[in-house]
Amino acid sequence: MGFDQQAKAADVTGIPCVRTVVDLRSAIARWRAAGETIGLVPTMGALHDGHLALVAASLEKMDRTVVTILVNPLQFGPEEDLSAYPRNEAADGEKLTAAAADLLYAPAIEEMYPPGFATEVRVAGLTEMLCGASRPVHFAGVATVVAKLFLQAQPDAAFFGEKDYQQWLVVRRLARDLDMAVRVERVATMREGDGLALSSRNAYLTPEERAIAPKLFEMLGQMAAAIRKGRAIDDAIAWGKDELRRAGFGKIDYLEVRDQESLVPIEAGEEGARIFAAVHLGKTRLIDNLAVAD
Ligand code: PAF
Repeated sequence: MGFDQQAKAADVTGIPCVRTVVDLRSAIARWRAAGETIGLVPTMGALHDGHLALVAASLEKMDRTVVTILVNPLQFGPEEDLSAYPRNEAADGEKLTAAAADLLYAPAIEEMYPPGFATEVRVAGLTEMLCGASRPVHFAGVATVVAKLFLQAQPDAAFFGEKDYQQWLVVRRLARDLDMAVRVERVATMREGDGLALSSRNAYLTPEERAIAPKLFEMLGQMAAAIRKGRAIDDAIAWGKDELRRAGFGKIDYLEVRDQESLVPIEAGEEGARIFAAVHLGKTRLIDNLAVAD
């Protein structure tokens, strides 16, 4: 089935939609033949303004923008929210149409992982700490699906959000290590007016939890300011954890100050330092991060 027919067959209106690698490649080949550059925005759908900022960054820099939607089972642990993860392809299609993205690639799980699929892409080091420590299968799942998407689409650039900073580092490492000719770009975190980082998982928050959630970013800002003024890092971390507990957050997976290139712990100073946090609020796990330097 050709690309245009496939668009009609899909249950997405407006933006052309392909569901197979063959159709994705034929759409991209036409653009390449015309000398156009390709931007890729990988997502798991449930699109919000944070995703649309990635689309906008690609539209600005690239000739063509391809958005992918796949709730990737490989990156969810057995106790995680794979089945509850929000899915609304029709609404996503409308948002992408309004944003003027060029193509939606929304493969079925069986297209991505056909019977017999047996390969895992694993990035050592960067994935063994922070989110990797509390979500042991997560980054191998991300690296595997992103490597496949890069090989399927062969984009010139791909766009990832700064909220998932560790993910961006892992994908950049993967592309460098595997000699993939793709620029892995980072786009600033989009926030609600009260500072809460946009995330598809914010939909899980009850109204009471939603009122508490922005305190995470507020606390990161206060920690960064205190470190800039010379407060010892261990001391700032202990203070931040107390603040989170006082605000009503539950389990703190981590609150750490790390070097923003290598993710190794930073003992003192602000040069290259970034604060990383993952905390539970009711059923929701929130992550955020902030550079210490202004
Ligand atoms: O950030 C996400 O939404 C996902 O981890 C990604 C990069 C689309 C891979 O499934």
